[in-house]
Amino acid sequence: MKVKTICCIGAGYVGGPTMAVIALKCPHLKVNVVDISKERIDAWNSKDLNSLPVYEPGLADVVKKARNRNLFFSTDIDNAIDESEMIFIAVNTPTKNYGEGKGKAADLKYVELCARSIARVSKSDKIVVEKSTLPVRTAEAVQTVLDSTGNGVNFEVLSNPEFLAEGTAIEDLFKSDRVLIGGQQSKNGKRAISELVNIYANWIPREKIYTTNVWSSELSKLVANAFLAQRISSINSISAICEATEADVEEVATAVGMDSRIGSKFLKSSVGFGGSCFQKDILNLVYIAQSLGLNQVSEYWHQVIKINDYQRQRFAKKIMNSLFGTISEKKITLFGWAFKKNTNDTRESSAIYVADMLIENGANICAYDPKVNEQQMLSDLDNLNNRTSDINKTALNFCPDPYEACKNSHAVVIITEWDEFINYDWSKIYNLLSKPAKIFDGRNILDKEKLKVIGFEIYSIGKS
Ligand code: NAD
Ligand code: UGA
Repeated sequence: MKVKTICCIGAGYVGGPTMAVIALKCPHLKVNVVDISKERIDAWNSKDLNSLPVYEPGLADVVKKARNRNLFFSTDIDNAIDESEMIFIAVNTPTKNYGEGKGKAADLKYVELCARSIARVSKSDKIVVEKSTLPVRTAEAVQTVLDSTGNGVNFEVLSNPEFLAEGTAIEDLFKSDRVLIGGQQSKNGKRAISELVNIYANWIPREKIYTTNVWSSELSKLVANAFLAQRISSINSISAICEATEADVEEVATAVGMDSRIGSKFLKSSVGFGGSCFQKDILNLVYIAQSLGLNQVSEYWHQVIKINDYQRQRFAKKIMNSLFGTISEKKITLFGWAFKKNTNDTRESSAIYVADMLIENGANICAYDPKVNEQQMLSDLDNLNNRTSDINKTALNFCPDPYEACKNSHAVVIITEWDEFINYDWSKIYNLLSKPAKIFDGRNILDKEKLKVIGFEIYSIGKS
């Protein structure tokens, strides 16, 4: 089988950028990206490249070059499956919010639905690629669904987890640290692996394409995210010690990270990690370990999440304590809502949890983010189900002008590390704030000494 046409089910943060880059780098391939959401597909097809559903630096340029050349976005899922020799599944795999495994296990219903559609439609052999992040041994279930409900054609299931980070997705896809491909070690399995290797080899050096058995590949993705998040929780736990001892967490992180065995990346202390994947994937790992009867292992990884929750609470409590123990009816300005800079994604952002705690204690929030609108902020708060939408609407206001957002506010709280915050006219902001003017820098991005000279009281993470 020679792969000439591929399709990707799921046009989200992974499916869209990943397939756009494959299409750009492989002009000989036809790439169809399909989704059940017409709204998302319409946005991918939008003439205005600022209206793409995913904001990523460099993405619009890639889409501009490949769209309608060999990259197509559509809701016609059946046709895309039928046409393709290789089908990627990149649908969402959120934490289950019902039934067995509620709150920990990954909800695989969307993946299973994809497998059933592929089985129903396929009239010729297909390679099915798991791009979504999945629990170890999911490929077995996918294979069973395909084989028992299909039309007798041959399906080869590969695992090809995605390691891109949002905000740098295009850069990460252009220059991946590695591409991981897991497959069966049978003759057909090896042939399928080599078809996928050939696609990536159009721009990724062969030595960076690592092939393994399917289970190692599935598990490695969860483990990679768990290790990354563990480093953040480790340094965040140390930030609490720093604040009590006059040590400086940035100095500690630099000193520790200079050891080449440890390395300097992912040691930036913060208000806590967010994003759709770290928490979900670690909870999934916790659940897998528990299901295997490995309770100590499960508890070990659970601590990574517990420290993250603790860090968010610690930060919100610090704001309240520093504002004389009460924030009732006080205006507080939040700068940033996205879970990190250079993305419009707000899933599991620490902003949601910090805002929620402040609102619970009576504060009026004025929030500004360069890429997130009021509707998204309110829907994030509503999804916590902690109070009615009407109460959230009264407690949180979006302010499109960051200076206006600061007028008569009792504190400015930095949640996301957007570069533009660094360049604001902080003297102007000082004059707008209620006094004493306080800044809570949840990302340690501002120049503390300069702000002190202006007159601010500034509270950082991991610095006394
Ligand atoms: P997403 O929610 O942005 O996109 C998923 C898309 O799948 C949605 O547009 C949804 O409408 C569509 N979909 C769901 N069921 C469908 C079906 N049956 N048929 C067609 N379309 C369907 O999710 P995402 O952030 O792109 O994540 C997708 C997967 O990739 C997850 O497993 C995630 O863990 C993993 N992942 C995400 C990232 C990231 O940075 N976001 C990075 C690496 C891996
Ligand atoms: C993460 C991984 O980095 C990707 O490799 C992986 O593919 C992806 O999850 C996924 O599976 O979804 P992402 O969540 O997009 O990527 O972004 P990160 O850069 O990892 O940041 C996650 C969170 O940790 C952000 O809130 C960020 O601000 C925070 N962070 C990151 C810190 O607080 N400190 C750090 O040192 C690094």
